[in-house]
Amino acid sequence: MCLSDQIVIKSEDATCRFVPHKIALPDMETLVVDHPLVAHKLTTLRDVRTDSPTFRRLADELVTLLAYEATRDVRVADVTVQTPVAPAHGVRMAKPYPLVVPILRAGLGMLDGMTRLLPTAEVGFLGMIRDEETLLAETYATRLPDDLSGRQCYVLDPMLATGGTLAAAVQFLFDRGAVDVTAICLLAAPEGLAYMDKVFANSGRPIRLVTAAVDDQLNDSGYIVPGLGDAGDRLYGVV
Ligand code: URA
Repeated sequence: MCLSDQIVIKSEDATCRFVPHKIALPDMETLVVDHPLVAHKLTTLRDVRTDSPTFRRLADELVTLLAYEATRDVRVADVTVQTPVAPAHGVRMAKPYPLVVPILRAGLGMLDGMTRLLPTAEVGFLGMIRDEETLLAETYATRLPDDLSGRQCYVLDPMLATGGTLAAAVQFLFDRGAVDVTAICLLAAPEGLAYMDKVFANSGRPIRLVTAAVDDQLNDSGYIVPGLGDAGDRLYGVV
């Protein structure tokens, strides 16, 4: 089953409040993972009283839950293994293994939660910072294979706000030959989703986004409302 096969209708029925649902954007497949454990962890992340150690632990757990959905289309190859009783047909992760790309600094807080589920994945690093005046993304560090031909990539960025940073990161991976990119964000703003959709409209490359929630809007400083504040500061303290 791929993301597009998932349930698209969100029910108001209290017995099934938490079902995956898709945002109807033409060019980017967006899955909002509604699940009671996801909602519980996200609520505690949002809470201003949550300290950094607890925030780090919950972000880590939340990523693993999101990664479970995000990797539905990860490529596998058929194999046969011998059980103590008989041959059994199954699958193994196909090569080349996926590349996981946390966007520094805050994306680092999502890395362990992702690699726990994908231990054979390789990890590349992309340092991007948002200019707080212009809200534009600048690249300040890269540590990635030059050739990403044929690679599935998973970009980790906790907050999809204006979309500038994530769009620049995704474009960077496409420029190096990545075939498909899935972004995992703890939270997204409607403005960021619309921006990503616009930038990659008709790009002909599959882009997916998996998130725990889509919030109301951005404020004048580019923060997600209600959001959870500055994800990097909440993870690592203010520097
Ligand atoms: N980056 C953050 O860390 N938080 C926001 O709300 C928006 C961008």
